[in-house]
Amino acid sequence: MARGLFIVFEGGDSAGKTTQVRLLANALRAHGVEDVVTTREPGGTDSGERLRAALLHGGEVCPAAEALAYAADRAQHVAEVIEPALTAGAIVISDRHLDSSIAYQVEGRGLRETDVRAVNQLAIGRLVPDLTVLLDIPAADAERRGRDLGDRLETAGLPFHERVNRRYRALAQAAPERYAVIDARLPIGRVHADVLAAVLPLVRRSEAQNLPGQEPAPAPPATAQPSTPSARAAAAELAASWPVTASQEPRP
Ligand SMILES: Nc1ncnc2c1ncn2[C@@H]1O[C@H](COP(=O)(O)OP(=O)(O)OP(=O)(O)O)[C@@H](O)[C@H]1O
Ligand SMILES: [Mg+2]
Repeated sequence: MARGLFIVFEGGDSAGKTTQVRLLANALRAHGVEDVVTTREPGGTDSGERLRAALLHGGEVCPAAEALAYAADRAQHVAEVIEPALTAGAIVISDRHLDSSIAYQVEGRGLRETDVRAVNQLAIGRLVPDLTVLLDIPAADAERRGRDLGDRLETAGLPFHERVNRRYRALAQAAPERYAVIDARLPIGRVHADVLAAVLPLVRRSEAQNLPGQEPAPAPPATAQPSTPSARAAAAELAASWPVTASQEPRP
């Protein structure tokens, strides 16, 4: 069976990841894509949800323990949810993955990148997202949005979150063909249109490859930065051709 697609949403706290994961999954299903799996890190498995509660709402955890716990969660998540779904041909959309550990544990908490990558290598093996959607928003704007939520990472302070954002951007710049960097300050519907503009070509290419007797389509050029006017026009056109309406947007 054809392997599915692995799409990851990354970005700072309150950037809009959970909102956009839900909108993308709804849009894909409305478009007739049957096998869409949404999941999240930490969490995504029973043991992961318990770990999530301990990490986000528990007491003080030293940075190394935090990094190891996230990697343990990820190992279970990959083995139990992501790999089986991809093998079955699903589109898997994950709310956070490895880049969160690089941005938060390395850049935010100051751990060595080689250490964090080593424990995560054990967790994920050769798994690499087909596309990472980076929802990019200045820490101050995100903080205004998330002020009421108050979990442990969100109370770490603006300089921490600015470092996290910088590392996310650097990861995207290092492999632009695997990232779409989207301006997450825009209204929810505009962000969603930019997400669709980045994801749909990948879905169509995957569908074409999976038709019997089809030659693999050539890879698309590196993902355009959706903040350019031409990418916005393409996003609007794509969004208009899809059965997604503003009424499907979650209420804040
Ligand atoms: N583009 C947007 N403009 C304004 N508000 C938004 C936008 N996207 C999301 N929100 C609102 O901001 C809040 C945080 O959104 P969401 O939970 O999707 O972010 P998140 O990135 O998943 O946060 P966390 O890192 O805490 O999981 C929600 O109240 C949501 O409705
Ligand atoms: Mg979320």
